[in-house]
Amino acid sequence: MPLIAVLAGDGIGPEVTAEARRVLEALGLDLTFEEAPVGGAGYLASGMPLPPDTLALAKRADAVLFGAIGDPRFDALERRLRPEAALLGLRRELGLFANIRPATLFPGLEDASPLKPEVVANLDIVIVRELTGDVYFGEKGHRTTLEGLRQGYDHMSYDEREVERIAIVGFEMAKRRRRKLCSVDKANVLETSQLWREVVNEVSVSYPEVALTHMYVDNAAMQLVRRPSEFDVIVTGNLFGDILSDQASMCAGSIGMLPSASLSDWSGANGMYEPIHGSAPDIAGTGKANPCAAILSAAMLLRHSLADEASAQRIEAAVKAAIASGARTADLGGTLSTREMGDAVLRELV
Ligand code: NAI
Ligand code: MG
Repeated sequence: MPLIAVLAGDGIGPEVTAEARRVLEALGLDLTFEEAPVGGAGYLASGMPLPPDTLALAKRADAVLFGAIGDPRFDALERRLRPEAALLGLRRELGLFANIRPATLFPGLEDASPLKPEVVANLDIVIVRELTGDVYFGEKGHRTTLEGLRQGYDHMSYDEREVERIAIVGFEMAKRRRRKLCSVDKANVLETSQLWREVVNEVSVSYPEVALTHMYVDNAAMQLVRRPSEFDVIVTGNLFGDILSDQASMCAGSIGMLPSASLSDWSGANGMYEPIHGSAPDIAGTGKANPCAAILSAAMLLRHSLADEASAQRIEAAVKAAIASGARTADLGGTLSTREMGDAVLRELV
């Protein structure tokens, strides 16, 4: 029986995760759930944002359903004790190198995006972002130049193995969707990107059914607001993916609608699934949080970690139907509470 580790975390994390769990339970699958504290809740329970028991559970589980972390009460603590340290620890310990962020516009929410309704209509993109390499993890520091100027530096690099494994995730994803993969780099100026492009082309030989294109990151940023519906799957490095995935999320309207997956290989073993939003301390405890991002993350869990595409689609269809029927939390201009929005999705689950 698959084991799901439920790490609900802080703020609205427990509120939205409870709804995601209710939806998972309503599917009638044979799943077991085990909860553990993480983030500020972990710090309160054991003095550490990622308690050893929590990490052990995450490793033992078939998948992790993660809420959100972040608690302003702990902002003054040193970095390794702050809630955010738990997220980095989990990514590192579980080897989660592939971050997958779909940006879909659900019919009825065209007005929620800051872009024109006709631009975002039919938006259905997946951004596959490399998560454990690039300039964030290279050699970095501060030094003084020979002229006595202060200098900061961050070293950008990728080796071919790192590029290959993320490219495979991109191609596998595209294969299951509209079979278009756009690899984003800056190969006109960066050596890192030259190698990236070379390796992506090599991997493409194994995926003749997927149409591969390459695009420079500056152009991709432009195309994402000009004609976002042209994209199917985008695969890119950590830095470019960080920026482009936030940009793409705005095409889809509310942050409360967007799920994500972080994978350690294409098969999804040990995957971690979470809404892209944070703990939203400004609305925590008010029952205003939109649980859809968390519910859609549960759908991704079924798809990637449990290879249950049919159940994933059942959840996605239920969210779509609830939105189409007019169910709206405050972020979408409505009045439903977190629980009522969960009820609306459950009513549409068939
Ligand atoms: P946030 O995503 O928590 O909130 C940004 C804004 O969006 C807020 O106005 C919030 O009320 C709203 N919002 C977020 N999720 C919502 C939902 N489901 N329904 C309705 N409205 C929603 O980002 P913020 O405020 O920058 O960070 C708050 C805390 O969360 C910080 O401690 C930060 O470090 C942490 N954080 C954690 C993340 C994670 O756990 N993966 C990701 C981003 C931030
Ligand atoms: Mg970001």
